Amino acid sequence: MMTLDTLNAKFGLPGHISFKEKTAGFVVAEVTNAAGTASIAIQGAQVIRWAPTKEKPVIWLSTAAKFAPGKSVRGGVPICWPWFGAHATDSTFPGHGYARTVYWEPVATKALSDTQTQLVFRLVESDTTRKQWPHTTPVECHITVGVSLEVELVTRNADKIPVTITEALHTYFEVEDVRQVKVLGLENTDYLDKVEGGKRKQQAGAITIASEVDRVYLDTTAECIIDDVAGKRRIHITKQNSQSTVVWNPWIDKATKMGDLGENGYLKMLCVESGNAADNTVTIQPGSEHRLSVSYRVSR
Ligand code: BG6
Repeated sequence: MMTLDTLNAKFGLPGHISFKEKTAGFVVAEVTNAAGTASIAIQGAQVIRWAPTKEKPVIWLSTAAKFAPGKSVRGGVPICWPWFGAHATDSTFPGHGYARTVYWEPVATKALSDTQTQLVFRLVESDTTRKQWPHTTPVECHITVGVSLEVELVTRNADKIPVTITEALHTYFEVEDVRQVKVLGLENTDYLDKVEGGKRKQQAGAITIASEVDRVYLDTTAECIIDDVAGKRRIHITKQNSQSTVVWNPWIDKATKMGDLGENGYLKMLCVESGNAADNTVTIQPGSEHRLSVSYRVSR
């Protein structure tokens, strides 16, 4: 792992990027430009904050989030990779894969303009990751901070055989009051309802949240809009090379058990995750790559 001095010397950009220690051993890239600000933890290449200029944060971070090496942070944009949810065969492997809890190293940073800053991270493999994933699939995350936030996860298959993954950008969005939110874009779409043991259902109308919601919407490439009625703003979510959208809010009982959602945190957040999950697996041929990407922006 690079020291702070090395990170700043190699990848800091005056007026755009500086690396700081948030808590002992937990390093964050602080990004500033004329369009907004963001914080990105190098653990997990996890965006933990993004606020366009004159806007409240769009990305939610729990007030009770813990920042500790090797632990997943509650909030932001955790990367679920190379599997989403429980591992298919080994329950001792971490849920949602290991990408979100391991160190990623910056490989490039660039000020694209006064209003756009780009950072590229690469997951650093270790004996632990290799034990859980016996494939050679270098993965990079390209993050562009501007009027919109763009995140692209690039998986390359450098193996000799096809490799199948599931994945998601497990984004927590900040809302004023989740009870008044409407999620648009998934009308008439089939989903697996994890609250009812994975039962297959079809969405009727806009999604509203009045109890625990944990759904994997399948075979959908649709743009979603979080209409944050109480917050008087809309968050637009567009995606590419993603066939699934996961919508999750733990509601009060699960949030209390989880312990890191913060007081009434479940009312202030909603996860709308773009990815490829459940039946929507992705098989990457040897020598090929797969790019999952999202773009988030706000309108009023
Ligand atoms: C969602 C899953 O994507 O992530 C939920 O559908 C899960 O089932 C949630 O509870 C949070 O997962 P974790 O591992 O970050 O607590």
